[in-house]
Amino acid sequence: MSQIIYLNGRFLPIEQAYVPVLDRGFIFGDGVYEVIPVYSKRAFRLREHLARLEHSLAGLRMENPRSPDEWEKLVEKLIRTNESEDQSIYLQVTRGPAPRDHAFPKHAVPTVFMMSNPLVTPSPAQVAQGVSAVSATDIRWDRCDIKAIALLPNVLLRQMAVDAGAAETILFRDGILTEGSASNIFAVENGVILAPPKDRHMLPGITYDVVLELAKTNGIPFEIGYFAEARIRNADELWITSSTREILAIVTLDSKPVGDGKPGPVFHRMYRLYQDYKNEVMRHG
Ligand SMILES: Cc1ncc(COP(=O)(O)O)c(C=O)c1O
Repeated sequence: MSQIIYLNGRFLPIEQAYVPVLDRGFIFGDGVYEVIPVYSKRAFRLREHLARLEHSLAGLRMENPRSPDEWEKLVEKLIRTNESEDQSIYLQVTRGPAPRDHAFPKHAVPTVFMMSNPLVTPSPAQVAQGVSAVSATDIRWDRCDIKAIALLPNVLLRQMAVDAGAAETILFRDGILTEGSASNIFAVENGVILAPPKDRHMLPGITYDVVLELAKTNGIPFEIGYFAEARIRNADELWITSSTREILAIVTLDSKPVGDGKPGPVFHRMYRLYQDYKNEVMRHG
């Protein structure tokens, strides 16, 4: 069966879906997106993803083209239309097609696109053994809190990891940890989880929020703050979090072991808590 996607009010096979070449998403990267994991055909934290979409659209000074109710119905229909139990919904809104000019067009109609792919979470081996990471200077702009489709710096930074055979590139801005090229980063120091604050230099991750909520409800101490590169390099544990990678331990950074070079005890605990939480709210209602 062909993959069914949603484009501008219609559900149709992906091969039949086209966007005009003058779409501002294509010309300027003028748009925003969301990635929503789906477990047992239920969208995880949908309201939170839609709230972040609203924030991103506001950052671009764009009206939301759909109401929360309409989004929920569309996402549910897309999930039903696709076979997999566990899916990854990609949702994108651009400012739409218009004659090429940097300034906002007066009458453009936003392009709304959604697709679903089977959700691929990390393998049991990756979870058990952890992954490697490299580091780089954060070369992005000052509004990383907007989930913008203009991802060229993230693309270049992520490729550095791939070229080094690593899973992620950890970013430092002026010597301070921000996040990963496509993930949030946590550290652990003497049993305390360290997390950068949700400011304009990182994307406010939905998984990041879940991790801190779980830490709070389970009495695991955490500290939100600005952490210098040297402190991060000397941390006992480092983790990646994102909707599709969930929580993964980083066991080497720039080829040097993190802590004792194995996923640490706080990671194991948080990984279990995350899986239990997911099963509780998603699989069993
Ligand atoms: C730059 C960046 N930071 C953080 C995240 C994690 O966000 P979430 O947990 O909502 O997937 C992502 C997700 O793709 C990302 O691209």
